[in-house]
Amino acid sequence: MATATILLAVAATSCAHAFQPSLLPLTSTRISSSSPFPSSSSSAGYRSIPSRARAWRCSARDDGRRTVEETRVNRREAAVVLSSIVLLPTLTSAAAQDDVKLPLAPPGGPRNIVITGSSSGIGKDAACKLAAGGYNVFLACRTMEKAMEARDSVEEEVKLLASKAGRSPGELTAMECDLSSLSSIKKFADEWNKSGKPIDVLVLNAGVALNTGARPPPPRTKDGFEVTVGTNHLGHFYLTNLLLPAVEKSSAAPRIVVTASQVHDPSSPGGNVGSKATLGDMQGLAAGIDWEMVDGGGWDADKAYKDSKLCNVLFTRELQRRLEDKGSKVTCNCFSPGLITRTGLFRDQGGFFLSAFDFIANNVVRVAETVSFGGDCLVTMAVSDALEGKRGVFWSNSKPGKHTFEEVEVSAEAKDAQKARRLWELSEQAIALALKKQQA
Ligand SMILES: NC(=O)c1ccc[n+]([C@@H]2O[C@H](COP(=O)([O-])OP(=O)(O)OC[C@H]3O[C@@H](n4cnc5c(N)ncnc54)[C@H](OP(=O)(O)O)[C@@H]3O)[C@@H](O)[C@H]2O)c1
Repeated sequence: MATATILLAVAATSCAHAFQPSLLPLTSTRISSSSPFPSSSSSAGYRSIPSRARAWRCSARDDGRRTVEETRVNRREAAVVLSSIVLLPTLTSAAAQDDVKLPLAPPGGPRNIVITGSSSGIGKDAACKLAAGGYNVFLACRTMEKAMEARDSVEEEVKLLASKAGRSPGELTAMECDLSSLSSIKKFADEWNKSGKPIDVLVLNAGVALNTGARPPPPRTKDGFEVTVGTNHLGHFYLTNLLLPAVEKSSAAPRIVVTASQVHDPSSPGGNVGSKATLGDMQGLAAGIDWEMVDGGGWDADKAYKDSKLCNVLFTRELQRRLEDKGSKVTCNCFSPGLITRTGLFRDQGGFFLSAFDFIANNVVRVAETVSFGGDCLVTMAVSDALEGKRGVFWSNSKPGKHTFEEVEVSAEAKDAQKARRLWELSEQAIALALKKQQA
């Protein structure tokens, strides 16, 4: 029975993939004026762009660029596609309901926005919208090649959207910043700092999630950290510390935005499934570099991802506290875009699982959000007036699948100020140790 249900799910997924507008290369995207996002009153406004026949290609996997695995149509899939055509009327997904509003840069000179992990998913989607709205966007990606590919794939769309909004588009600049390499991060930051440019918004968005069934030993960053926490938390921690002077230089109200996740909270629907996030007493991280988990336990890929998102929230709150202590005008807030099955985040989970998961999340329980929605969440955090004066808060899709986005409570552990302080100190220590090892 269970197998049949899953097969049916896969069948319908294949069918849905074949017919859902959001997954076809040329689709129309509905860009409406009713948005779930707080609109801007004064400086940075939003403009609705009339619906058009061409595709909104900014969304990573909504743009028709399917992975080889997804594109491969085998006989089983072909058979189930045909057999599941009867299900079509029920296959309406959240992905078919994209609403897009363009954020318009305020007058007074271009604003610089750096986004890590903008080669795909919500980072790329947001980069496209922000550049179309007139912001200068710096695509900080794992490799220069990926950054240039991302830039080239949205450039035309940026121009088109900007002209429809009666705006000049901002510049899109490709840059290399591999968050799993301290020397790549340093090189990126040195290059930036040498340019003397201010950063008006720094978005720490890159993220990696390994197959939840992966067995130890864990893959490691170039400097020997467990790759998930090493990239998602320590890489961003190091980058932020190096770039803070450039953020402080901004004459606007500078922001640091962290893409965290609801799964940091074990009492949330996503955080409650599988392993639960907790950093314990952080004896793993305290031991230096060769740890597998922050809490000192054996490697668990699922928990490592959730822990890394808990680190993101603790980091946000501690950074905000430190900024306030020194009277800085920089604010730091974090957010969760909700569950989005069609970004690259689940690429390591396996085709069959992903297809079933995608179908169930989008079409059965309908808790998934779209890539475009996630991009809009990032845009809101980066430039909306709704975030003005907000410090150390967490925004999330409060009603999963319903496209709502508002401030919500963080988990009990994420509220622990002492833990946040300790995580900061141990992160500094771990990075110092890795740099020392590098020089030896
Ligand atoms: N999708 C969801 O359900 C969901 C839910 C909550 C939170 N989030 C968070 O949202 C953020 C964006 O994820 P997404 O869903 O848009 O998935 P995505 O499409 O996989 O985007 C992640 C981005 O991070 C980049 N990245 C990974 N490792 C990197 C590294 N070492 N150096 C530089 N860039 C690196 C990826 O680039 P490569 O292609 O080079 O790896 C990719 O551009 C992540 O922080 C994720 O944790 C996602």
